[in-house]
Amino acid sequence: MALEWMGKMPGWESIVLLGLLLFLLLIFVAPGRRPPNFPPGLPMWPVIGSMLHIQGLPLRTVLRNLRKEYGNMASFGVFGTGVLLVSDFSLIKEIFSHKASRDRPPMSFTTTRNYLLSDGQESNLGIIGGNGDKWQELRRFVLRHLRDFGFGKTTCEPMITKEVTELMDHIQQQKGQPIPMMEEVDNFISNEDCDVTHSFASIFLKEMQRHVGEKSIFNMHEFTAVIFDMFAAGMDTTSSTLTMGVYLIAKHPAIQQKVQQELDEVLGRDRLPSYSDADALPYTLATIHEVQRYFCFTAVATHSASEDCKFAGYDIPKGTVLLENIEAAMTDPKLWKNPQEFDPENFLNADGKYVKNPAFIPYGIGTRVCAGEPQARMQVFLFLSCLFQRFTFSIVGEEILFNSPTNFNAPAIYSTVAHPRPPL
Ligand code: HEM
Repeated sequence: MALEWMGKMPGWESIVLLGLLLFLLLIFVAPGRRPPNFPPGLPMWPVIGSMLHIQGLPLRTVLRNLRKEYGNMASFGVFGTGVLLVSDFSLIKEIFSHKASRDRPPMSFTTTRNYLLSDGQESNLGIIGGNGDKWQELRRFVLRHLRDFGFGKTTCEPMITKEVTELMDHIQQQKGQPIPMMEEVDNFISNEDCDVTHSFASIFLKEMQRHVGEKSIFNMHEFTAVIFDMFAAGMDTTSSTLTMGVYLIAKHPAIQQKVQQELDEVLGRDRLPSYSDADALPYTLATIHEVQRYFCFTAVATHSASEDCKFAGYDIPKGTVLLENIEAAMTDPKLWKNPQEFDPENFLNADGKYVKNPAFIPYGIGTRVCAGEPQARMQVFLFLSCLFQRFTFSIVGEEILFNSPTNFNAPAIYSTVAHPRPPL
């Protein structure tokens, strides 16, 4: 027996030796140590990773500190897994467009849900947490059908305009009473999302009938997961953005006034803005983009390396969690005129023309960019431009200020008074 000789040693000596052996085993064999040629970062201990260094701190604070101390490729460990935070916009673009970075790591929310949906048989279901060929086929199917329905295009515009008009009529009926804006927006979004999801569900069910008896992605487990994903991905993101849109514009009366002046000059007050008016409304368009830049709903998008790869000269092992630092790209002083303030000038040139900034990435970038982006862009534009054409808003009570340290930002919870704007 290999350890027989230990039996001949006095009791305390064998305990110390056993302890030493276990310690060495932990140091050299247990997962979680810094891999060779891995980007710089927090100390990574076996098993616990960097938990001792980040414990108790809010996520956005951890990420900002990490970038400040270790730069644009900064690493840490969470239990046995290496994590890489990518913060420079050019690197973000390069790395998150690469096919090796398109996986998602296991996420407790989707993994648990998937096991529950499939009686414990499947962890890889749906689009948000899905991986591999199945995810790719499903994503293509979702994108194709959203496009065919006209989401993000003029065919679905009347549906959004109808919901916005109903919301504005409801606001008008409040006759100057304080309105809890979040509730109004949530109602609007759930009606909207039901329409989108309902149309998509009927297409998926038809596809399931075509594939009866075959092994394909068109089965009941995928159906439930993908419908769930569409709701989960579309609801909170859009409703928080719209709630914050009204809040930020109302909080800056000079900006609110300029938006309204432009809407009056270009459209008057008799007809509602349509998506095709966006190019003729540069200040309004810039303000709406600024809402999403400044609010920055998602701090980081989470991916993982599907194979061993090399980025910026570093070796990144398969399974490394890759964090796309959306917040860093959208506040980089090299890329924005006034990154720390709410300022539509961030999207305007000296002639007052709207200019695209490629570092505007609230929907992510690359292989896994938001599947609902065209739809969301249209919703945000129509909602905010219609509301500010018809009302002037003032904030009258704030229960919770906007300030979220977590990955998904929480909007301010507030009440507003809407002053109707009479016809010109
Ligand atoms: C203002 C609104 C929205 C924002 C800010 C937003 C943002 C995001 C972000 C940052 C991601 C992660 C991208 C990545 O991992 O690289 C994402 C993914 C996703 N979003 Fe959105 N989103 C919004 C609205 C929507 C809507 C309305 C839908 C559906 C109709 C939707 C469906 C999805 C789906 C399915 C994914 C997962 C894509 C994949 O993993 O392949 N999103 N979104």
